[in-house]
Amino acid sequence: MNKLILVTGGTGYIGSHTTVELMNEGFDVVIIDNLSNSEKSVLDGIVEITGRRPYFEEFDICDKEKLDNFFKIYKKIDAVIHFAAYKAVGESIEKPLKYYQNNLITLMNLLNGIKEHKVSNFVFSSSATVYGQPDKLPVTESAPFKTADSPYGNTKQIAEEIIRDTINANRDFRAISLRYFNPIGAHSSALIGELPRGVPNNLVPFITQTAAGIRDELKVFGDDYNTPDGSAVRDYINVVDLAKAHVVSIKRMIDNKSKSNLEVFNVGTGKGSSVLEIVNAFEKATGEKLNYKMSERRVGDIESVYAETRYANEELGWKAEIGLDETLLSAWNWEKNIRNIK
Ligand code: NAD
Ligand code: WQD
Repeated sequence: MNKLILVTGGTGYIGSHTTVELMNEGFDVVIIDNLSNSEKSVLDGIVEITGRRPYFEEFDICDKEKLDNFFKIYKKIDAVIHFAAYKAVGESIEKPLKYYQNNLITLMNLLNGIKEHKVSNFVFSSSATVYGQPDKLPVTESAPFKTADSPYGNTKQIAEEIIRDTINANRDFRAISLRYFNPIGAHSSALIGELPRGVPNNLVPFITQTAAGIRDELKVFGDDYNTPDGSAVRDYINVVDLAKAHVVSIKRMIDNKSKSNLEVFNVGTGKGSSVLEIVNAFEKATGEKLNYKMSERRVGDIESVYAETRYANEELGWKAEIGLDETLLSAWNWEKNIRNIK
């Protein structure tokens, strides 16, 4: 019988790509999502790619009673991947309680449910945001947390602590926290991808929407950083590569290969790219000319961060494989597909 994986937030951006990779590897998937930041039609894309439909349950994981009922129905879950959360950094500064409420209550409800129903494997979506501006680059998993720049970032720090304390008190329970750097791109089929609501906060959706004529111009935030070209540097990781890191993590736990009950891995490429390098790579990969201008720094942005990936490469046995040009082309193909651009 196939192993059954619960994917919370599975109709979202990273959750949908992970569901596809899990199903491609022969896992069965049940998704819980309340569709607060995704569309049910994402399931059709997953079916088109994999030929199979994941189970889908639509409800809010903050609702403890519904979650308890869920675990009574789906009795044999082998592992949980917890994506469901709010993720807009700017909104979290304006509405901190909305973020603490959703991101922490969902986590605690799930951990309680897992404990009660004896599911022992848990993968958590953490973020490189926990590092802030690191003292040393590339940043390793043992770098200290800096004071979070936003309530959103703080929810990831607190969540990692909640998981650690839960594991210390329940030794039959295992978790892996994956600290994602900057996920970008879409599935090569262009059938699933990122679906930002309103004006995108993130760089690559803003670029693709500008190229599609939905936005007038891209503002490159900051030209005076202490970087080779003055624009800020990040580690952009292809979303399918990122999805595969989850599959490897699930297999590691199911096969009893974890070295300790709580493991933490950076999920990045190990290479930093500046905003201007991304703009140039996008133009080169797609042949589209991008309207952009240099602009003020965005408040709260850090200068430079990229991952030390050796631990993930050697211990987890996972490595980013898809290059930047292919990744940016996939993001453009997805934008063209949803906008009906030929
Ligand atoms: P997303 O918004 O596309 O997906 C999250 C999904 O969770 C959405 O489908 C949403 O409807 C669902 N959801 C939210 N709250 C819920 C609740 N209470 N009950 C049920 N469903 C709920 O976001 P994403 O980019 O796929 O991010 C997934 C995870 O990865 C999040 O935890 C996010 O913080 C983390 N992360 C994302 C990035 C990034 O840049 N995208 C980087 C680092 C970490
Ligand atoms: C990337 C670079 C911008 C938009 C955020 C969260 C982080 C994580 C990933 C969840 C920066 C520049 C952007 C634009 C620009 N999410 N930029 N013009 O800020 O690195 O990280 O998403 O955990 O927590 O903070 O990503 O895509 O917003 O920006 O010049 O219109 O692009 O200044 O240097 P960021 P981003």
